[in-house]
Amino acid sequence: MKGKSVYVAGHRGMVGAALVRRLAREDVRLVTTTRSELDLRDQAAVFSWFAKARPQVVFLAAAKVGGIVANNTLRAEFIYDNIAIAINVIQAAHQNGAAKLMFLGSSCIYPKLAPQPLREDSMLTGPLEPTNEPYAIAKIAGIKMVEAYRAQYGSDFISVMPTNLYGPGDNYHLEYSHVVAALIRRFHEAKIAGAKSVVVWGTGTPRREFLYVDDMADACVHLMKTYTGAELINIGNGEDITIAEFARVVAEVIGYRGEITFDTSRPDGTPRKVLDVNRLARLGWRATTSLRDGLRRTYEDYTRGV
Ligand SMILES: NC(=O)c1ccc[n+]([C@@H]2O[C@H](COP(=O)([O-])OP(=O)(O)OC[C@H]3O[C@@H](n4cnc5c(N)ncnc54)[C@H](OP(=O)(O)O)[C@@H]3O)[C@@H](O)[C@H]2O)c1
Repeated sequence: MKGKSVYVAGHRGMVGAALVRRLAREDVRLVTTTRSELDLRDQAAVFSWFAKARPQVVFLAAAKVGGIVANNTLRAEFIYDNIAIAINVIQAAHQNGAAKLMFLGSSCIYPKLAPQPLREDSMLTGPLEPTNEPYAIAKIAGIKMVEAYRAQYGSDFISVMPTNLYGPGDNYHLEYSHVVAALIRRFHEAKIAGAKSVVVWGTGTPRREFLYVDDMADACVHLMKTYTGAELINIGNGEDITIAEFARVVAEVIGYRGEITFDTSRPDGTPRKVLDVNRLARLGWRATTSLRDGLRRTYEDYTRGV
């Protein structure tokens, strides 16, 4: 990447902003566009922008993203936006000679009942989780494009599959947020209101993995510099924690001292979801931020914004 022009698509998002922070330590010429300057769903606009800017390296971190409610209710937008962004940016990067591109997928691309920890080769081995199927299908289309462009044109395009991410710049929308942001907001508001208890959805027993977004950005830069290949690479820390334990850590970091109760009438989802990160470890990267440190930094960022 040294001395190259590097385009971060989606630089105002949680991951894109972390990539921008991480790339500040590299000798690169950073290029960004806001959505009002360039709507990545607009093919003509994307092709024309790439023809002028001709970025040499592309991180494709723009996508329509959200938690389970957003995925399940905005199903058409999730499939349309994400397929459009993938086809436009990948084709434009190819047409304009980008030397390298990284496509960001998601752990939702793995089948609902795939063995845990989730290995990269379990993609397309079984049915997907129905609530986020449109999003997952769009992400799989992006992964398959990357694979096809490598096979047909020899493009050095790669795909990575991040686990659940959290960190500064997360989306705290009441309905559409991911679990970490939702819990931070709920515990913070309970602390301020002096509430005696906070209700967490489900039984608290499902196990999930959470990666701090600056670790994710560091892994992306590491792979962009060192990895070339058709195989997907999972990005996670390979550690899972129950939602109940996780909620207790969030409450502790926020300083909420009331009771935590569980609404068992709400669905739990899959009992365990954690990535197999052996491939990433063999490529020489592992996460360094502890859950408590990551949550502390995230909460500081949240309180600056409220
Ligand atoms: N967050 C997670 O837990 C997680 C987990 C696995 C994978 N990922 C993947 O990581 C990537 C980044 O996710 P994130 O959490 O950073 O999401 P995010 O915070 O919602 O950011 C997405 C970014 O994409 C931009 N964008 C969306 N649609 C656009 C369009 N039509 N034209 C131009 N820009 C557009 C958004 O622009 P605006 O700011 O203008 O809206 C925003 O900057 C995505 O590919 C996602 O699938 C995320």
